[in-house]
Amino acid sequence: MAEELKQIDALVEAALAEIATVSNSDELEKFRIKYLGTKGAVKDLMALLGKVPREQKPVLGQRVNAAKEQITAAFEARRESLSNRQAAASDAVDVTEPGRPLQLGNRHLLMKVVDELTELFGRMGFSIASGPEVEDEFHNFIALNIPESHPARDPLDNFYLTGNAGSGKREGSGFRVQGSGNTESADVPSSPSSLIPEPRTLNPPRLLRTQTSTVQIRVMETQKPPIRVVIPGRVYRPDTTDQTHLPMFHQLEALVVDRDVTMVDLKSTITQFVHAYFGPQTKMRFRPSFFPFTEPSAEVDIWFEDRNKWIELGGCGMVHPNVFKNVGIDPETHTGWAFGLGIERIAMRKYGIGDIRYFVENDIRFLRQF
Ligand code: DAH
Repeated sequence: MAEELKQIDALVEAALAEIATVSNSDELEKFRIKYLGTKGAVKDLMALLGKVPREQKPVLGQRVNAAKEQITAAFEARRESLSNRQAAASDAVDVTEPGRPLQLGNRHLLMKVVDELTELFGRMGFSIASGPEVEDEFHNFIALNIPESHPARDPLDNFYLTGNAGSGKREGSGFRVQGSGNTESADVPSSPSSLIPEPRTLNPPRLLRTQTSTVQIRVMETQKPPIRVVIPGRVYRPDTTDQTHLPMFHQLEALVVDRDVTMVDLKSTITQFVHAYFGPQTKMRFRPSFFPFTEPSAEVDIWFEDRNKWIELGGCGMVHPNVFKNVGIDPETHTGWAFGLGIERIAMRKYGIGDIRYFVENDIRFLRQF
């Protein structure tokens, strides 16, 4: 039996030596077939049992089993370590791989345009002013020479804040939430006693400003001429949203007050701006118009190549004497001019944007382009 036992030991030794060299799953499979397969070396050991006398069979049988277990255990251990190594390899950091670029956000296109505009007017000697978006009727209408009867003061054309009035006495509503989309039933008085309007002086009507011209008044209330400011800001109107309208948009207002300021200054400043910003070939025109706070007044159009038509950028004019009187500036000694342009329209023309709604839809594919 000594011969058979030697043969078994030799096989185990050979198998253990070989498994140590196995380094991938192909080699592992070859090893399995060679030693543990149905026609493998371990199976062959069974044949030895037939060669020994009967009383030796149990001992030899045990040794064959032990050899099979040893080789199987070595095989399993190798398989385990190979699969761990594979997992570790897929988790590993390749330090030579180039880094991924960080996805940085960028400034919203409109804010970029505001920066470009204020920078441009800065070079023309203008400083920047700002004012509140929630306004009173004095700054939004009265001081701007917009009489109570003017259609611009219709409560339906303004976003009045809850609990106070459009001064639209025509409507007889001194208290209601005005402006489309803004009426919350909880805020509308329901009991008869609450229908008595509150005294104006205690609770003056407030609204979201409809124009940045309000800030002209605030500047003139606090600064003495000479004045030379631009005012970028948001304005609000209950307009139905479409390709060229949003209920909130931006305007760039300008105000110049000094002695001997003329319409020539106004026209040449706007013309210079248009040519500097859109290019010297840009077609533009002034059309006579009417605004309560300027006299004479004009509208500025520029030619939109891609749509093949004139589009109005905004209004302008010489500051009305009544406006000066409302803020304590003497219209005999001072003159001034002003304009208010739509910033979205400026941006649309400059960057070839076909629909104003892109500005507020937060579509990353749009925003990323600028
Ligand atoms: N505030 C006017 C509007 O929103 C635009 C405007 C017209 C502004 C004439 C001005 C101006 O400063 O002089 O429609």
